[in-house]
Amino acid sequence: MDPINLFDYEQLAQQRLPAVIWDHIQGGSDDSLTVRANRQAFERLRLRPRVLVDVSVIETHTTVLGTPIQLPILVGPTAGHMLAHPEGECATAQAAEQAGTIMIVSGFSSRTIEDIRASTQGPLWLQLYSYHSLEVTGQFVQRATAAGYQAIMLTVDTAHLGHREQDIRNNFQRSRFVPLANFIDNDVSETPLRHLVDTWETVDWLRTITHLPIILKGILTPEDALLALQHGVSGIVVSNHGGRQLDGAITSIEALPDIVQAVNGGCEVYLDSGIRRGSDVLKALALGARAVLIGRPVFWGLAVNGGAGVHHVLELLHAELTMSMALAGRPTLSSLDPSLIKMPERRV
Ligand code: FNR
Repeated sequence: MDPINLFDYEQLAQQRLPAVIWDHIQGGSDDSLTVRANRQAFERLRLRPRVLVDVSVIETHTTVLGTPIQLPILVGPTAGHMLAHPEGECATAQAAEQAGTIMIVSGFSSRTIEDIRASTQGPLWLQLYSYHSLEVTGQFVQRATAAGYQAIMLTVDTAHLGHREQDIRNNFQRSRFVPLANFIDNDVSETPLRHLVDTWETVDWLRTITHLPIILKGILTPEDALLALQHGVSGIVVSNHGGRQLDGAITSIEALPDIVQAVNGGCEVYLDSGIRRGSDVLKALALGARAVLIGRPVFWGLAVNGGAGVHHVLELLHAELTMSMALAGRPTLSSLDPSLIKMPERRV
């Protein structure tokens, strides 16, 4: 089968990856309620297309924190790309550059952040948790700065690692398959992480040790979005971690409108969790996201065809977004607004 959409990639990747790795990538926490809800929430939204608009030219380029990108779709931070391909994050970074977008490298990458940086000219951001000491975290931020990473994304929804039952049943340990390349010398293990005690003070501390813009990933309420603004962040990612943290958490796309309203332009707002179609991207942007991130589909591309697979995944989403914009009569990103969306009736 030649994959023509992300679900084809998903199916092919499942055939190629060992079951324990597949389960780890796909897995949600507890009952995977939020994993399923992420898709259902996008599927429930209906679009209100406008007609007889000149859509001969469709423009999808934009900027995120001032960096130009060709499509409003970023490679989200996910740990251990060597789980899916021997070149790991280096292949992914090249694919992101080719597609004209940014890769956000997970601190738990299986290639070092310096190797990844050396493998591409494209813009890179670094995601981190705060690790077992502020010293280790601080040194890591300095390394990323020296290597030329352009922003720091602190993930804030992982006070504990979600209860991923499939991983527990399989006794999955990432370190059996791939290295925590960045921390070979630091004795950092995935758990326990120091961020068990992360608070808003950690964000303030981070601001004192770096001049890079800070983005918080894992915000789901307007209350926390406003706090993030007060603590001086440049961006937030509305995210439920792809349903891998709090099971039953609100979906990102449902949380987005209230958050965008509360933030009121005070920082950039991105979204992830469940993006699989160009029309999902369209819906998120119409409701006020500046860009979206993808997580699992990157692994699917890697598993099927390495960097070329990731590039194709991004191209497919880009092409679908372009088509959706044309059919919706919205030829530019600035023409997107909430009037494109018919919100589902609220049921009590
Ligand atoms: C993740 N995610 C994640 N997030 C993060 O901030 N740091 C990390 O190291 C990881 N690692 C990771 C590994 C794997 C295998 C998955 C599937 C996910 C979460 C990720 O950034 C993102 O929030 C979700 O994957 C988005 O949902 P979708 O696109 O997978 O539905």
